[in-house]
Parts: sequence; structure tokens; C-alpha cells
Amino acid sequence: MKKILGVIMAGMLFGCAPKAEEFHVVPMPESVTLTPGSYSLAGKAFYADPAIGENAVKAVERFAAQLALVSGKTSDVSTEDNGQPVRFLPNPNLGEAEHALNVKKSGVTLEASSFNGFLYGIETLKQMLPEKIYAKARAKASWALPLVSILDSPRFAYRGMMLDPCRHFWTIEETKRIIDVAAAFKINRFHWHLTEDQGWRMEIKKYPRLTEVGAWRNGTMIEKDWDSNDGIRYGGFYTQDEMREVVAYAAERGITVIPEIDLPGHMVAALASYPELGCTGGPYEVRQKWGIATDILCAGNDKVFEFLDDVFDEMVDIFPSEYIHIGGDECFGGRRYKGEVPWDSCPKCLARMRKLGIKRGPDAKHYLQNYVTARVQQMLADKGRKVIGWDEILEGELAPGATIMSWRGTSGGVKAAARDFDVIMSPNKFLYLDYYQSKETDKEPLAIGHCLPLEKVYSYEPYEGMEPGTEDHVIGVQANLWTEYIATPEHLEYMLLPRLSAASEVQWCAAENKDYARFDASIDHLFRMFDVMGYTYAKHARGLIGLPGSEQPAAPAEEPAAE
Ligand code: ACM
Ligand code: ZN
Repeated sequence: MKKILGVIMAGMLFGCAPKAEEFHVVPMPESVTLTPGSYSLAGKAFYADPAIGENAVKAVERFAAQLALVSGKTSDVSTEDNGQPVRFLPNPNLGEAEHALNVKKSGVTLEASSFNGFLYGIETLKQMLPEKIYAKARAKASWALPLVSILDSPRFAYRGMMLDPCRHFWTIEETKRIIDVAAAFKINRFHWHLTEDQGWRMEIKKYPRLTEVGAWRNGTMIEKDWDSNDGIRYGGFYTQDEMREVVAYAAERGITVIPEIDLPGHMVAALASYPELGCTGGPYEVRQKWGIATDILCAGNDKVFEFLDDVFDEMVDIFPSEYIHIGGDECFGGRRYKGEVPWDSCPKCLARMRKLGIKRGPDAKHYLQNYVTARVQQMLADKGRKVIGWDEILEGELAPGATIMSWRGTSGGVKAAARDFDVIMSPNKFLYLDYYQSKETDKEPLAIGHCLPLEKVYSYEPYEGMEPGTEDHVIGVQANLWTEYIATPEHLEYMLLPRLSAASEVQWCAAENKDYARFDASIDHLFRMFDVMGYTYAKHARGLIGLPGSEQPAAPAEEPAAE
């Protein structure tokens, strides 16, 4: 199957009108066979076989309603078969997420074996229609689909994106907008980074101070001036009802929300709320600068584990995800920090190390972190959940069963897979969407640094550097959007789009089916889509840099040096 698109992209099956260059679906389906002609969808009756399931029928109804809204022609959806020309049918022979979509002169059939399979087929239908299918009111367009036969399924089962609502807070409505655009690119995991040094965002009823105190900071450093402070109280949090609303909203779009509680580091907001959870007892205050704090949860105090168990009880009740993300990154002041950490001089932590037989020395903290991770892993296993952690949890001796999210480049993922752990690849150099998008940083809105152009995101190959035979441990790929330097929805979307669509081809397409020139030819389609959907996006791929209102032409590409 994987070979078929390769053949098509070589032009053999795409040779007839409409041309391959005019077929713009991102991520590109695995197998596409176009034939001349088109099918007009507006006003056609839909049959949704009840065996496709209630949720899939609802998704078909939403699609029909959207088509009716923009076209002005009603498409009735019925679960009774009257020979309607647009048909949504179960096909148990297709794999999870796989779907077969056929558009002929006589009508359309979409077959799948799962809810997500139907959703992905519908997303493909939308992208094959004029971009005005995404409009919020009646729009003039042809509503014609190309005649096509598509068989499609993703390369990776886990296709994620992460949003940081802690450094800057994003309302439920903005969060849903991000989920909407992720769904358009067939992303199926939304990793919600809900706790940080700079703000705790998740209501926990047993610990009200986490949001009374921990959700608010009394100022924020200004841009990159580490000695500055704007003195403005900043914060916010999500109630449990709001988080449930996001979970349900995402689920309707085929996306599982994976919440993160980052521990034992990145916990200053929790320590400010309950100082007894730290090694020194504080006082602590919600952090007002970016960067990495050295104050972390005390690993020697059993009250900390009671606290975590209680928090997990409430989390698992809100989030039905198979995984809970437990963070684990940068617990000891970051990579360059060589000083003492609170665990080195805390009587309770030192007693715990002695009891565990951990020898003093530079690696002791990693073994103590292993103890914290293992205890948390067991707590969550008792609640029927598995853990994901950032690649730092691999240092020392990680207990089996955890999934590693490789962010410090790819080496954590490579090592984890070699040690038989499952891996989600999220290397900063390729998938950190808070990085600048060009080298012309004077034309860009502020970013954390580095340079991650669209093409570089696209170029990422998740198996690169893996030890042969360990590739199957890579269960997925994720793009991350940290928000230290991003304070407005427009800026957030500018950083996300269109780089998320490039990431979606890394997640969805077989390596041999990726082709940057072909993807680039779909950029105008994507831009029109974002325009109709009302998103802000970056236009580097068409020679412009900057947020709307301050766009500037990019410098001309340098001539290659003469031989
Ligand atoms: C991370 O970027 N600190 C996971
Ligand atoms: Zn301690």
C-alpha cells in the first residue's frame, strides 16, 4: 500500500485531469487515484449506515450541516437506506483510522471501521472542496469534488500537539480553536501542559489554594530583560467543568486530551500554594521569570505522594486518556546548572536516599527521581493509567512501562527505544514551534530563539539515528508550543500555522510519500483555508515575515556560491 502513492506522485496515476498539482490535501493521503471529472456535493442526500456508530453518524450530520450552511442547499442525512448517492458505510476489513473514499460520477462512498476513520475521511472531503467549506455563513463556490479513489491510513498512531497555557493563559475558546485546526490535520492527541512554575491551571477541589494562589503571579519579566518586571498580576485557571468541556469537544473531533502535571520539577506554583510540599518549607512565590527553578517537590516527604495521589484521583476523573503525562524535565536547574539542588541538603530526601541505598554523588538525584517516577507510575497504574514523561526520566534506572517523550533532540528517544521503552519523538530542533521561523529575527515577533523554518519541520524523519530493529517503539510524533514569549492568540496562531501542517505530514505520511515541493504547492490552499477559518498564520513560504499589520518582505534567497 505504502508504495502506491509513490507511484502516483511519479505522475503515472495522476497523469490525467484534474492534475496532481491541483490536488491539495494535507496531510497527503497514502494512495490517491484521480480520474477526469467532478461530482457536485451540495444538496445531495446522505446515507449514514447506523452500524458506523452513533458518534460517526453525528460527525456526518455536522458535515452535512456545514455544507448546507455554506452552500444554501440542504443535504438530508438518514440512517435509512433509500439509495442515497452519498454513503457512509462500515467496513470491518479496514484497520483502525484507515478509510476508503470513492468519489464517482454516481456519488460518494466513505468506508471505515472506526469513528476516527470516518472523521479523517470527512476532513479529506472538506479539503477537497473549495476552502469556503470552512466558512461561517453562506458562500459562493462550486462545491465540486474531484473524481477520486483514496485509500488512506496514518504512519503513526500517536499524532500529537502540545500547548502551554501556563506561561501565558489561553481561554477555553482559544483552546478549542487550536483543537479545531489540529483536527483538520488529523492530529489525534492534545497534550495539555497544565502545571508550571509560572502558574497552576487545573482546578483541584481538594487543594483549592492551587488555583487561589498558584494560578496567579504578581508580575512577569518583560521580553528578555531578566531584571525587569511589569508588576501586573497575571493568571487564570480552568474549572473541572471547563476541562471536561474541552475533553468532550476534542473527543468529538477524534482527539484525546492528555493532561500533564509536571513533576517533581516545574512545581513552584504548587509550592507557593502548599509550601510544606517543598524541601525547605518556603516561602515560595509563583515564578515571575522564565527559565528553570531549582525549587522542586520534596522526594522524602510522604505527604507529597499523598498530595499527588489525590491530584491524580481528580485528574483521572476529568481526563479519560490512556496516558497521563508526568513531566519529569529539568528538575535540577537545567542542563547547564552544576550547583546543589534542594534534595542534596534536605534531611527527608537524604533519609530517603539512605533507605533506598542510593550513594551520594552527582547521579544520586537521578536515582531519587527514578524513585519518584516509579511511585507515581504505580499510583497511576492502580488507577488504570500509563505514564508519559520527558526524556529526563530515562536517566538512572527507569521502571518498565513508561513512554518517553524525546525533546532534547532525538538521543533520548533513540536510547529509550534501544532499552525497550515506547517513544514519542518531539525533538526541539524540529518540532518546537516556539522557535523563530526565519533568521531575520528583527522582522519576527519575539521568540525564544533558534530557527525552525517550515521546511525544517517538514524534513524531520522520526527513524533517523534509531538502532535497527527498534523503530517499532516509536509510537508517535508531537509538535510542542511553549508560550513564554507568546502572549496573544494572534501570535500563538502565527507560531503554529502553517508549521503544524508540516508536522502533520511527518506524523501521517510514510517517509517515501513526503515531498516538500508537493507540500509547498499546497501552501496557497492552506493559506486560503486559514483565511476562511479566521486564523492568523505565518507567510514565510510566500516571502513575507511578521504578524499581520507588520509584515515585511523576506530578504531574497542568497545565490549559491560560484563553483
Ligand atoms: C521541555 O521543553 N522542557 C520539555
Ligand atoms: Zn526534600
